[in-house]
Amino acid sequence: MKIAARMDRISPSATMAMKAKADALKAEGKDVLSFAVGEPDFPTPDNVVEACKRALDAGETRYTAASGTAELKQAICDATARDIGVQYEPANVIVSCGAKHSLLNIFQTLVDPGDEVVVIAPYWVTYPDQIRYSEGTPVIVSTSGDKGFQPDLDEVRDAVTDKTVAMVINSPCNPSGVVYTPEAIAGLAEIAVAKNITLISDEIYKHIIFDGAKHVSPASVSDEARMQTLVVDGVAKTYAMTGWRIGWFMGCPDVVKAAGRFQGQATSNPASMAQAATIEALNGPQESVEAMRVEFEARRDYVAARLAEMPGVKCAQPIGAFYAFPDVSEHYGREMGGNTIDGSSAMTEYLLEAALISLVPGEAFGADDYIRLSFACSMEQLEMGLDRLAGALA
Ligand SMILES: Cc1ncc(COP(=O)(O)O)c(C=O)c1O
Repeated sequence: MKIAARMDRISPSATMAMKAKADALKAEGKDVLSFAVGEPDFPTPDNVVEACKRALDAGETRYTAASGTAELKQAICDATARDIGVQYEPANVIVSCGAKHSLLNIFQTLVDPGDEVVVIAPYWVTYPDQIRYSEGTPVIVSTSGDKGFQPDLDEVRDAVTDKTVAMVINSPCNPSGVVYTPEAIAGLAEIAVAKNITLISDEIYKHIIFDGAKHVSPASVSDEARMQTLVVDGVAKTYAMTGWRIGWFMGCPDVVKAAGRFQGQATSNPASMAQAATIEALNGPQESVEAMRVEFEARRDYVAARLAEMPGVKCAQPIGAFYAFPDVSEHYGREMGGNTIDGSSAMTEYLLEAALISLVPGEAFGADDYIRLSFACSMEQLEMGLDRLAGALA
């Protein structure tokens, strides 16, 4: 069968590819430890699961409005006002099957062939593929671990051309763990307003934040910035609800309406019972969110301390999300496991084969000097895995 050319613009997810390799070794009986996953290892809180059961018992098993129920949109507006201090109305919200789906809706709605979208690297793997699929061109602006992965505003400004329609930012960031300073957020918002481009702000990790740092949304910077920003969010990371597939974006009602037309012809509504559970997640008790955050921070402390002791490894302190992103490039050029380590892919392959630990190559995030280690796993697993990493690099 003929496959459309647009499929060539999407590459398979590097995280999924790493998982497949690790699974193949596990199937051979090898004791592989995975640090490649991007999901909390905690169960979904009981009150959320119970709300889903109640919805099922009450017969909430039918189509809902394609862009999400009115009740859920209101709960999202209330939670957003509480969390980032921005008051949206339901007409500013469209609920989708995960934040990944929300992002695709945005790129399909905003990007025409040849349009450019500025993406700050290291970036979440999905952004460039979705932009290319939408016939746009991702324009990458790099940041470095030596500067804590904070963006250089002049470089960002210079990357905006007359073809630029949008810029994507992600703070707290997967994979680097950087949380942009309030000044950086204000500066990025100012660029978006001055250049009249849409600022897409992926805030899915906003509750997983350490050292008392504060999450600042560009939508909260000024009225102009709010009008120029689309905020992307969801329940996957905050409430350990990756499998429930609920995400949303908020902002300009015209964009929301246009994305709604696309969603209405593509997927229709996200699952009715998952929407009901999300209302409870957002409106119900929030203690489990803080309990998970505290546990992530303890793991971050442990991982950062262990990485700091390893020769040839430099790691900017992750201030949010649940990933460490160490620079291992001092080891590049070495012979390890019979191969020359010429970059992050060779390094992660070596670590998988020689030490039975799976990590994701930084190359997938637009930063080949680095590898990503997820600490969404138990402390025991981290202890064993970091012992193995130290041994393999030595
Ligand atoms: C930065 C970032 N944005 C969005 C998502 C997608 O989240 P969801 O599971 O809601 O589609 C992820 C998931 O890994 C992510 O890391």
